Amino acid sequence: MASAARATRRGIVALGRAAVDARSGRRRSAVAATRSNARATRGKAARAFGPTYVTTPIYYVNDQPHIGHVYTSTVADAYARYARARGADVFFLTGTDEHGLKVEQSADKRGIEPQALADENSQKFRDVMTSYDISFDDFIRTTDARHERQVRALVEALQERDAVYLGQFEGWYDEGQEEYYTESKAKELDYKSPISGKDMVRSSEENYYFRLSKFQKELEALHADNPEFLTPSARRNEMIQRLNEGLNDVPISRTNFKWGIKMPEDEKHVIYVWIDALMNYITAIGVGDGKDDAVYSERSKYWPASVHIMAKEISWFHSVIWPALLMALDLPLPQRVHAHAFWIREGRKMSKSLGNFVDLACMDRFKEHYGLDAIRYYLAVEGPIGANDANFSADRVQEIYSSDLVNTLGNSVSRTTAMVNKYFDGEVQSEELNGARVTFENWDMPARTSACVEDALKAYDKLDLPRAAAAAKQIIMDVDVFITETEPFRMAKDASKRAELSACLYQCLESLRIACVLLEPLMPNKMAEFDAGVGLGEGTMDERTTWGGLKPGTKVQKLALFPRVEGLNEQGEPMKA
Ligand code: MSP
Repeated sequence: MASAARATRRGIVALGRAAVDARSGRRRSAVAATRSNARATRGKAARAFGPTYVTTPIYYVNDQPHIGHVYTSTVADAYARYARARGADVFFLTGTDEHGLKVEQSADKRGIEPQALADENSQKFRDVMTSYDISFDDFIRTTDARHERQVRALVEALQERDAVYLGQFEGWYDEGQEEYYTESKAKELDYKSPISGKDMVRSSEENYYFRLSKFQKELEALHADNPEFLTPSARRNEMIQRLNEGLNDVPISRTNFKWGIKMPEDEKHVIYVWIDALMNYITAIGVGDGKDDAVYSERSKYWPASVHIMAKEISWFHSVIWPALLMALDLPLPQRVHAHAFWIREGRKMSKSLGNFVDLACMDRFKEHYGLDAIRYYLAVEGPIGANDANFSADRVQEIYSSDLVNTLGNSVSRTTAMVNKYFDGEVQSEELNGARVTFENWDMPARTSACVEDALKAYDKLDLPRAAAAAKQIIMDVDVFITETEPFRMAKDASKRAELSACLYQCLESLRIACVLLEPLMPNKMAEFDAGVGLGEGTMDERTTWGGLKPGTKVQKLALFPRVEGLNEQGEPMKA
């Protein structure tokens, strides 16, 4: 263990130095990173993507996957795909959180070992990632030997830095969430778990503590100086308020159960599941194994993370506890924590007690019926990406599918590819006549498209998927009106308008191609169909969204991307006649 800790120290020093060198000082690292992010979002040309590290929460194996897990993973996936398309070297991490009392108890109830339960349920989450096309680069499990070894080393490093000490603790404990509350917070919640509604219990233990209070000032400054560190701003305001109440040191070990990572040199203590879980973000890149480790040397470039994505219930752990742990370890802080809101149903929180979860079986029925990409699109455009909760509604799935995908994107692509086939035998013509672009009054399609591209890229940078999709949709709606106003079917009847017709269809198809490039992070499979039938172009997203990527002479197939389908009921079943 001692040598592991030494290795850890070496690793930490290495990362810390890089941060200090590049950004002159740890405290300023988050500030500097945030500022450079803001600069980068100002224009497409100014955006330079370096190594990009995107994470989802690691999901608890004592729950079954549901819409919430699919949603966060889809948002993270869309961002990872977007960043890759912009040319970034992306590392996208997801995984499962497998320790803790609840897992031990569930396994007990079933008469199996916790590891067996963890194996079974971790696999379910992994399967979800595959079936929803989540393009993760690594799937970490907190029972992985690599993770357990490094967590012990990192906790030992915290002890050596005097950030962890042994002390006596008494407080209000939410058994379901495995979380302690301060007296004032417990009172405010009427001594009941805000999640399960069950009574909190008064609990007292000898525990190892993390000196969270020591980081009060630094955490205050982090949030005050970096409005972009925790988004949306509603979450930031909550954290600032909670910080104002003052920080207590937090217990980071438990003795009332066994299923977890043992405290270094004190095996009756198990490391608190949240400390264990948060560390996944750095154990996956080998930080706890030190700089001589092969994984570390390959992946250390990804730290600090570009964005940790999750829902709001765990923003405290990610924007207060996690930065404090990193400060204690002298590691640079993540650039951004985004805590979106919740999917709800009929205006009510989804919960086990209400039994109103959109569970995986229900999600799968929608996916089966509408197709995976349509569901990804629905999640992206209607999901609770900001501060407000979003209702899951079968009617809205149907409405969005019909209006955005069938009637707008699908229709426009099929209309345009059909005309290219009908009038030009499926061959893309040039938009030029005698070396100059043929233009249409009031319809500067390259300029309109480029404005939407700018908007979409800025929106993606901010994780604003609904706006990114809306900007792409704007291009398609423009094409529709352009067709209605310029009437290519009329031009086709007049032999003298051949050049005009060629340019008109070129401009329609080129605009659609660019819209599809923008939609690819959300709908990779459908856009692959467009790629096969028309072509999305070559290179990075910046290159592919530049006007002119569609080459005259390209053969185009008639495409029908989204078939019309009937709606489903709230359970994802066919409606009764
Ligand atoms: N294991 C912890 C996370 C540790 S990360 C170091 C955990 N796991 S969880 O299985 O409960 O997953 C919580 C996450 O699932 C949320 O933060 C969010 O990403 C997603 N969602 C769970 N329910 C959700 C909704 N109703 N709506 C949207 N997303 C939600 O917490």
